[in-house]
Amino acid sequence: MNEFRYAGGVLHAEGVPLAAIADAVGTPVYCYSSAAIESAYRAYEAAFAGRPMRICYALKANGNLAVVRTLANLGAGADVVSEGEMRRALAAGVPASRIVFSGVGKAPTEMAFALGRGIHQINVESVPELETLSEIASARGMTAPVALRINPDVDAGTHAKITTGRRENKFGIDHDQAVEIYARAAILPGIEPVGLAVHIGSQLTDVEPFRRAFTRLAELVTELRGRGLSVTRLDLGGGLGIVYRDEAETPHAAYAAIVEETVGGLGCELAIEPGRSLVGNAGVLLTRVLYVKQAGSRRIVIVDAAMNDLIRPALYEAHHGIRPVAPRAGTESPADVVGPVCETADTFAVARPLAPVEPGDLMVLDSAGAYAAAMASGYNGRLPVPEVLVRGGDYAVVKPRPSFEDILDQDRIPDWLAALPTSERRGAA
Ligand code: LLP
Repeated sequence: MNEFRYAGGVLHAEGVPLAAIADAVGTPVYCYSSAAIESAYRAYEAAFAGRPMRICYALKANGNLAVVRTLANLGAGADVVSEGEMRRALAAGVPASRIVFSGVGKAPTEMAFALGRGIHQINVESVPELETLSEIASARGMTAPVALRINPDVDAGTHAKITTGRRENKFGIDHDQAVEIYARAAILPGIEPVGLAVHIGSQLTDVEPFRRAFTRLAELVTELRGRGLSVTRLDLGGGLGIVYRDEAETPHAAYAAIVEETVGGLGCELAIEPGRSLVGNAGVLLTRVLYVKQAGSRRIVIVDAAMNDLIRPALYEAHHGIRPVAPRAGTESPADVVGPVCETADTFAVARPLAPVEPGDLMVLDSAGAYAAAMASGYNGRLPVPEVLVRGGDYAVVKPRPSFEDILDQDRIPDWLAALPTSERRGAA
C-alpha cells in the first residue's frame, strides 16, 4: 500500500488527505491511486525487460473506465470475460487488437460481438464452445483466432474458491485431450488455432505452481508441433498474489524467470493476464465509524461499509488491513469490525488489534483496488459506492454515487399490480 501513507498523522492517497475525499464525496467510497497502478504495471515491464510480453489487464479485478484507461495509456491490453467487459475495455481506449476473450461460457452473441470488433484472440474452453464459435465465424465469413485453454491439473496452492487449474475445476480442456482437440480445431471452418492458454488460480504467493503449469504447456507445444500443427502464441493467465497481510512481496522477478525457463525458448508470442497484482494494492475502501458497541468483553466497531461493498472476507475468509485515517492516541486492543448488513458474514475482522476509535472517525479497508467494487451488490437496499481516482495532489470522482431515485427507477411495477387498490392490498396482508 505504498501510495497510502500517513503524513502529519493523517492517511493520504498520494498527496490527497483521505478526509478531504470523505468530506467531499461522502462515505463509503473506494479510492484508487494512479501512481500505485502505474508502478504495479512498471514492475511487470521491468521483470520482463528485453522479452516482448503482452500484458492484458484482467478487467474483472476492476473495470472502472478510468482505471482501465490508466493502464491502457501505459500500453496494457485487456483480458475480458463478457461482452460487458469487452465494451468497457473498448470504451476505455484499449484497441480490439489487444483484447483477449476468456471465460468458460461465452454466449453466441458475445462471440459475434467480439469477432465483429476484431478481437485479438478468443480463449476456448470446450469442444461445444469451439463448434459454436466455428459456426458463428464461418457464417460471417470470418476466421476466429483461437487459443485453447488447457486445464493442466496443477494445484495452485491458493484458496479453494479461487483455484482453477485442477482437473476437478470447471475450467479449460483436459490436457490429455488437448492435442486431439487442437488438431480438430485446425480443420474446423472459421477457426484458426493460434496457441494455448492457461490460468491456474488467483492470489498465488508461491510461484512454483506456475512452473508446473507452464512446463505442461511447453510439453504440449512440442507435441503439437511434432504433429505439424502451428503454435505461435501462449497466454499464461494471471494469478500473481499481492500483500494483504504478511505475504512476500509480489515475486515478479521469480515469476519472469520461470516464464523464461519454461516457455521462453519456444519462439511463441507471450501474453499474461494479471488483474489483482495491477490494482489490488492501488485502492482502499474509505469508511466511517457509525457506532462502537461493547458486547461483554468484545468491542464491536460498526462502520458504514459492508460485505456488499467488499465481499472478500465473507466469501474467502480474506484478510484486509484496517487502519484509522487519523489514529488517536492510546493502545491497540482487539475489535470486531463489522458492517450494517443483516448477516453474520458481514464481518471484516474479528478480534483485530485496533487503536481507539470513536463514532465519526474515518477508517480504511486496505487492498480494495481489486475484486471489491467489481463484486459489489445492492444487498439490503444499499447504494452503490462511488469511486475516486487520485493523481498526485488531485482527485476525480470516476463513478458517482447514484441517488435513491436512480436506483428505484430501475424497477417497474406491472400494470396489474399498479391497478390494485390500496384497500385490497391491505386486506390481503
Ligand atoms: N485470467 C483468467 C482467465 C482469470 O480467470 C483470472 C481471474 C485472471 C486472469 C486474473 O487473475 P488475477 O491476476 O487477478 O489473480 N474474486 C476473487 C478472485 C477471482 C479470480 C478469478 N479469475 C478474489 O477476490 O480473490
